[in-house]
Amino acid sequence: MDRDTVIQKTVTFVKDELFLAEGGHDWWHVYRVWKLARQIARREEVDLFVVEMGALLHDIADSKFHNGDETIGPRKAREFLVSLGVEKEVISHVEKIIAHISFKGAAHRQEFRSAELDVVQDADRLDAIGAIGIARTFNYGGHKGRSIYDPGIPPVQEMTKETYKKNTSPTINHFYEKLLLLKDRMNTRTGKEMAMERHRFMEQYLDRFYAEWEGTE
Ligand code: NI
Repeated sequence: MDRDTVIQKTVTFVKDELFLAEGGHDWWHVYRVWKLARQIARREEVDLFVVEMGALLHDIADSKFHNGDETIGPRKAREFLVSLGVEKEVISHVEKIIAHISFKGAAHRQEFRSAELDVVQDADRLDAIGAIGIARTFNYGGHKGRSIYDPGIPPVQEMTKETYKKNTSPTINHFYEKLLLLKDRMNTRTGKEMAMERHRFMEQYLDRFYAEWEGTE
């Protein structure tokens, strides 16, 4: 099977699998990450096919929607790619990308790296910040029944993987616990440049948010 056909079949598979997904982790999130990853990859020395497959399959079974089980995503991707007859080196690289892409708290150290993972991770992180990031964050908070903001509950910096996953604080805290940290965690030059503008936009948004909260704008 040629690579374009594999990509088309993967698009169909992912759309199908994520049919009922929460709005910030649905097909359209994957679509944006896929496009961003291709854009970043143009300026990097990477295997574009691995980047595209990693981007398309990275949220096929996000552990936060599967009781914290981090093995389902890589396994699902493997089964699907085996069924298409994709080379085994590509399959194991895509599996590793899925297993290591996600942010697990500011104190967590990542064990696997590759140029392809760097690109997909930057694309996924860019979709977590800026205007889209703000929309996704509030959508997820609403999905979890969290309050928008509570001035009495301060954000927790330097969370471990476990406290990060169990965290139930108001949605605004998530900006300090994750979103505002991402611009300094970008891997590629292009990713860093794109993150700066999105970061500035979030800072402006927060200033405006607090001003409106107190009615002082
Ligand atoms: Ni994602």
